[in-house]
Amino acid sequence: MTADIRPQPGIMEIAPYEGGQATVEGVSDVIKLSSNENPFGPCAAAIEAYGRAAHQLHRYPATDHRALRATIGQVHGLDPDRIICGVGSDEIISLLCQAYAGPGDEVLHTEHGFAMYRISALAAGATPVEAPERERVTDVDALLAACTDRTRLVFIANPNNPTGTMIGGNELARLADGLPPRAILVLDGAYAEYVEGFDGGAGLVEARDNVVMTRTFSKMYGLGGLRIGWGYGPRAIIDVLNRIRGPFNLSQSQLATAEAAMRDRDHVAKCRAENSRLRAWLAEALAEQGVPSDTSCANFILARFADRAEAEACDDYLKSRGLIVRRVAGYKLPNCLRITIGDEASCRQVAHAVAAFKEGRR
Ligand SMILES: Cc1ncc(COP(=O)(O)O)c(C=O)c1O
Repeated sequence: MTADIRPQPGIMEIAPYEGGQATVEGVSDVIKLSSNENPFGPCAAAIEAYGRAAHQLHRYPATDHRALRATIGQVHGLDPDRIICGVGSDEIISLLCQAYAGPGDEVLHTEHGFAMYRISALAAGATPVEAPERERVTDVDALLAACTDRTRLVFIANPNNPTGTMIGGNELARLADGLPPRAILVLDGAYAEYVEGFDGGAGLVEARDNVVMTRTFSKMYGLGGLRIGWGYGPRAIIDVLNRIRGPFNLSQSQLATAEAAMRDRDHVAKCRAENSRLRAWLAEALAEQGVPSDTSCANFILARFADRAEAEACDDYLKSRGLIVRRVAGYKLPNCLRITIGDEASCRQVAHAVAAFKEGRR
C-alpha cells in the first residue's frame, strides 16, 4: 500500500518565515540592522542572571512562571493572574490562533501586518484576511469593514512592523467596540517600550473583555536570542491559552533572565532615549538625501525609495559595505527598506552609505 500522508489544510500555503539576514558573503565585518535588535543588548543584571541559571540546569523550570508574572505585574501595574508567558510573543500569537481559530474561521490583520499573523492563522487551519492600510497606517474603518461573522481574531501591531506607525487610544477603543461578538482584538506591543508613557494597550485590556495584549523581551530588553514574550488578557482567555501551552515552554534561564531584565528600568529608559535621538537623526539624514520615511514610533525606520529597483540597488550597495538592512517586498512594500536603529556609529555609517549611493546615481 502506498502511504497517503498530507499535512492539515492550509499548511502548504505557508511561505516559511524569513529572518533578517545576518551575514554577507565575502564581507567579514558586518553591521546587522535587519532584525530590530537592541544594539546595546540586555542589561548587566540579565546577563548575570543567565549565568547563575547555569547552576540549575538539572532542575525542571517552574510550569506556572509565577515569579516572572509577579515581576511583570509589579512593573506594569497588571494582575499577574492574567499574564501568560511564552517562547517569544510569537508563541502567544500562535496559541491564540490555535485556541480561537480553525477551519472556516477568519483571522484579520492589516495590509503590512507582521508575517506571523498569517502564518499562525494558516497553521491553525483558519483563513487569514487582510485589510488595507491608509498610507502605511492601520485603518480602523477598513478593519471594521473587513469583519464578518466568521472573524475570530484581529491582529494589530502598535507600533506596527515594518511601517513603524501607530494609532491612538481612541481609535483602538473604537476598533474593540466595533468588532463582532466572537472576535478578539490582539494588540501586539512588541515595540510598545519605545513609546514613552505608552501602556501597549493594557488599559484597553482592563476596560474590555475582548482585548488581549502581547509583549516581548526580544526588542527593548535585548533578549531576542533567548525567546521570551508575554500576553495580558481577560482571565477566561488566559485560562484557555494555558490549557494548550506546553507546561515547560520556558526554561529556567529564560525565566530568570527575563525577570532581571524587566527589573532594570534604567536600562530601558537609556535605550529608549538613545533610540529616539538616533532615529530622529537618521530619518533626517536620509530625508536630506531624498529618502523619506514616515514618523516612526519603533526602533527602526522604513526608508522609501523611488521604486523597487532603487530600493534593491541601495540594499545591494549597503550590503557591499557590510550594512545589512531588511527588504520588505514580502510585506507589500517593494520600494522600501526597513533599517533598525543601531548605535551611533552604525547610524552614521548607514547615513554615509545612503548618501554615497545617491551621489553615485546623480
Ligand atoms: C510586530 C511584532 N510582533 C511580534 C514579534 C515577535 O517577537 P518575539 O517572538 O521575538 O517576541 C515581532 C518580531 O519581530 C514583531 O515585529
